[in-house]
Amino acid sequence: LRGDQVICVSNREPLIHDRGADGGVLVKRPASGLVTAVEPVMQACSGTWIAHGSGSADRDMVDADDRVVVPGGQQDYWLRRIWLTEEEEKGYYYGFANEGLWPLCHVAHVRPVFRRSDWEAYKAVNQRFADAVVAEARSEDPIVLVQDYHLALVPAMVREKLPQATILTFWHIPWPNPESFGICPWRRELLRGMLGSTILGFHTRFHCRNFLETVDRYLEARIEHEHSIISVGRKETYVESYPISIAWPDETESAAWPAVAASREAVRARLGLPEDARIAVGVDRFDYTKGIIERINAVERLLEKHPEHLGRLAFVQVASPTRSELDEYHGFQDRVKALVARVNARFGREGWQPVHLLAEHHDHAQLIELYRAADACVVTSLHDGMNLVCKEFVAARDDERGVLVLSRFAGAARELHEALIVNPYDVEETADALHRAVTMSEPEQRERMASLRTNVAEFNVFRWAGRMLVDAGRWRLRARVEA
Ligand code: G6P
Repeated sequence: LRGDQVICVSNREPLIHDRGADGGVLVKRPASGLVTAVEPVMQACSGTWIAHGSGSADRDMVDADDRVVVPGGQQDYWLRRIWLTEEEEKGYYYGFANEGLWPLCHVAHVRPVFRRSDWEAYKAVNQRFADAVVAEARSEDPIVLVQDYHLALVPAMVREKLPQATILTFWHIPWPNPESFGICPWRRELLRGMLGSTILGFHTRFHCRNFLETVDRYLEARIEHEHSIISVGRKETYVESYPISIAWPDETESAAWPAVAASREAVRARLGLPEDARIAVGVDRFDYTKGIIERINAVERLLEKHPEHLGRLAFVQVASPTRSELDEYHGFQDRVKALVARVNARFGREGWQPVHLLAEHHDHAQLIELYRAADACVVTSLHDGMNLVCKEFVAARDDERGVLVLSRFAGAARELHEALIVNPYDVEETADALHRAVTMSEPEQRERMASLRTNVAEFNVFRWAGRMLVDAGRWRLRARVEA
């Protein structure tokens, strides 16, 4: 594939330029697992990334072709921004993608909303992204990386204009069973759109199987289960699992991190915690799929069962604001705030409160400090494609301490066996795991963390991208031989 052009396309841009209060330009990294994973890959292949320009200063930073070189450093790539009107953003992003597909694919018991006007906006905006891909292509057969549920129709739209392109689509969220998916009025159109891909990737085999069964149920297609190939007419799509990951930090990066003791000190000082305080952390977008309510319920139960933690254990929840314009998110965020206030009123004492909710955006350096300060990191998603917070926590702990509590409903639970695996709907089990995490002996912490680190270091994001690209190379060769 060397020398081939790589074009990536996603809704969320990897870098946002915002206008600060003083008129200066601020660079913001979005809280997005997709961006965390895909950016190192784009840096390595210096391609072009097409995404929605969402920052208030985004337009001021681009050239006449709406392009800007990012992130600024040694490994730059082009970012081409697509501008969406408020109307388009409302129907395509907030509406169909986040009120329709997001709850449709996550089993978090939130009802999807399907409006015809959102669907129309979704189709139109997908066409705009596809047109931008075609405009960026310098040959008839570029490698196009399509990312996530915002752009399900893009593969077929690109295929129509560039029949020889190698299109790799990665679905970053779960794929539900055929019954669940089948309630979407436009199920066939979505499936046909995705089947424009050469390769269609999910995080787990389970999601691949759900997808194959969904196609089997709703389309006239030939499915070779053994080889995981779907054929519609003469067009074939290979469906495979590629568990996503993070870029493992190199020595230069980790050498710049604050020492673990200094991180603890800083976090304790900032939150006014006593010197012997134990710290458990949660880091999420403020999203109803993340199990934040279940987690706080478990903290409350822990304090009931083990009063010895009163005044000594602080649970710190970072919740980055997200999709706040939607009622479902708004209501959820209010419910979490009310719950935190209740638990703090019940168990708080003069100078100490059990739960610290930090509902604002945190940058990478702040998260590293928090991960390094933590005795435990708690990931209790109700359903999650992979979840990269748990892998980032593991990467941050070069001291081999700290315990990971991880939901069995996150894709990561299939890889990170040395975590304490819980069902977040089971408050007793989660509370017990929290207790076990913050009281675990150092040798056991070390043993578990060392093993987790070996796993994440090896199965890093380059392995994810590498496997997809090797498969793409094979399919490209096959197409050329057949042509
Ligand atoms: C999930 C999705 C990504 C998305 C991220 C942040 O990880 O799979 O596609 O970028 O959430 O959500 P946002 O709506 O802010 O892009």
